[in-house]
Formats: sequence, structure tokens, C-alpha cells
Amino acid sequence: MGLRRSITPWLLGGASLSLGAALTLVAVEPALSAGETYSQADPAVQAGMGVIMQSRCGNCHIIPGIPHADGNFGPDLGPHDDIPPVAGRNPLAIYPHGSVPNNSQDDLAAWLAHPTDLKPGTAMPDLGLSQDDAEAAAAYLYAIQPDGSVAGMDDSAAAPTPDSGGSGG
Ligand code: HEC
Repeated sequence: MGLRRSITPWLLGGASLSLGAALTLVAVEPALSAGETYSQADPAVQAGMGVIMQSRCGNCHIIPGIPHADGNFGPDLGPHDDIPPVAGRNPLAIYPHGSVPNNSQDDLAAWLAHPTDLKPGTAMPDLGLSQDDAEAAAAYLYAIQPDGSVAGMDDSAAAPTPDSGGSGG
């Protein structure tokens, strides 16, 4: 009796200490990463929305999440029929022949910045986008999900005004 009493608390103490540490790690990590992954606005995606609206890409393309982007001169950039959104397409710009690689967001930005350089004779005009603007627009297009939603846009920022006071520079 005396022996058991003196050993048991010591064993339990050691066990509960390491168990507690393990539980803390398991419990905390998923909670943090879930908070960061979902429902957080992505500034690059939001900047890309502005670039796409200003460049009037929607005159020629259907683009999910962009007001009045219902053109059909160029390909529908959202998911449709069996075709995935732009991030899932490789190659790009297959109309009416020829193509451009799309292995990364950088490839897409290169196409948006200089379509006629990458594919001479393409019906997509060179819109004179800066490299920064092309990268932002590519970030937006890559954020379009297979279900047509756009990641990185929170609801309050979904419909910004195009010219809300010229600050910055
Ligand atoms: C004057 C009409 C026009 C405008 C404006 C225009 N595009 Fe295009 N776009 C096209 C056409 C036409 C094609 C198909 C080109 C080809 O296949 O050679 C195309 C192709 C593309 C593709 C490849 C799609 C695929 O599935 O192959 C992307 C991405 C794209 N455009 C994005 C944009 C973005 C972003 C803007 C605005 C910055 C824009 N376009 C502005 C006409 C336009």
C-alpha cells in the first residue's frame, strides 16, 4: 500500500505532462491555419479585379465576379461545360490555332502583358498592361475556383467603386 502510493503520483505526473504538450500542439495548429486560409481578402486578387475592370477585359470575355463582364469575342474565362477556369487550362490561347503555355501564374501574367509577342497574329490585343498590372490580373484569374467563386475576395469588397477618390501615387 505504502509502495503503490508513493510511485503512482510520480508516474501519472510524467504522463500527463507530455500528453498535455501533445494535445496543445494538435489543438492549436489547425485552428490557426484554418483562420488564415479562409475568409481572408487577398490584396493581389483585389488589385487584379481593378485592373480587369479598368482594362475592360469584360468587353471580350465572360469573367466570374466582374460586373458586366459578359463579352464573347474571346474565350469564357470562368468554368463552363467541361472546361476549368483559367488556372486549370494549359495551354492557353488555342483559338483558332497555336497556343501559349500556362504552367504558372507567371506564364499567365506574361500572356496578359504581351499577348501579341507570345502569339503573333492572336486576336487578343496587347492592352499595354504594366508587369505589375498583368501580375495582379493573373492573380485574380487564378483565384477563380472550379465552382465559379473567387477566392481572396471578401463580401464587403466584392463590388468596389472603380474610382473612389484618387489617393496614393
Ligand atoms: C478585344 C477583345 C479582348 C480584350 C479587350 C481582352 N481579350 Fe483576352 N482574349 C481575346 C481573344 C480573342 C482571345 C483568344 C486568343 C487566342 O486564342 O489566340 C483571348 C484570350 C485570353 C485568354 C486565354 C483564354 C483561354 O482559355 O485560352 C486570357 C486568360 C485572356 N484573354 C485574358 C484577358 C484579360 C485579363 C484581359 C484584360 C486585361 C483581356 N483578356 C482582354 C480577346 C480579348
